[in-house]
Amino acid sequence: MTETRLRDDIARLSRSLFERGFSVGSAGNISAAVDDGLLITPTNSCLGFLDPARISKLDRDGRHIFGDAPSKEIFLHRAFYKTRPETGAVVHLHSTFATALSCLADTDPEDCIPPLTPYVVMRVGKVRLVPYARPGDPRAGDLIRALEGRYAAVLLANHGPVVSARDLHAAVYAAEELEETAKLLVSLRGLPTRMLSVDQVNELTRVFGGS
Ligand code: 13P
Repeated sequence: MTETRLRDDIARLSRSLFERGFSVGSAGNISAAVDDGLLITPTNSCLGFLDPARISKLDRDGRHIFGDAPSKEIFLHRAFYKTRPETGAVVHLHSTFATALSCLADTDPEDCIPPLTPYVVMRVGKVRLVPYARPGDPRAGDLIRALEGRYAAVLLANHGPVVSARDLHAAVYAAEELEETAKLLVSLRGLPTRMLSVDQVNELTRVFGGS
């Protein structure tokens, strides 16, 4: 895919996320890998109104080489590209229900999004809680690197989800799936709930592959 097409896709999918309430104000950022580096949404930009030509470009060493100043969360994104080399795109949101789970004191840090439905297993996989760091703190990137690529998605404590996938569409779909599953989990809180069994999760991984 050409860089121009990828820029257009980032702007189009970002607008779609914004219009459906997955991001508000200037929250959230999206990146995608290109041959000679990566594209990332500019800092303080609204995902609903991106100009494709102004999306930031960084070289392979993380130097800003084109477009507006990059997202301050570049550290989160680079940690996924570094530790999961198959990564083609990363989506960070402050979507409401995933963020709610990132704040709840009894969320299991090892398994923030238990296997409630098949698609969260297929598209997102196991989700780990990353301890709180202020937005833009490079230490959040260090914390993700320390996971050594074992998780395609994490919840940043009291902040929100970061989701990686092999390409832009897959990363956006996974971020949406994570948010909708978080909504189900919050809706079902206090009700006796049947999760998928270990055998059912294993069958999904065998048939559809891991994320
Ligand atoms: P940026 O505007 O720098 O991308 O930061 C937004 C955000 O989501 C912070 O977590």
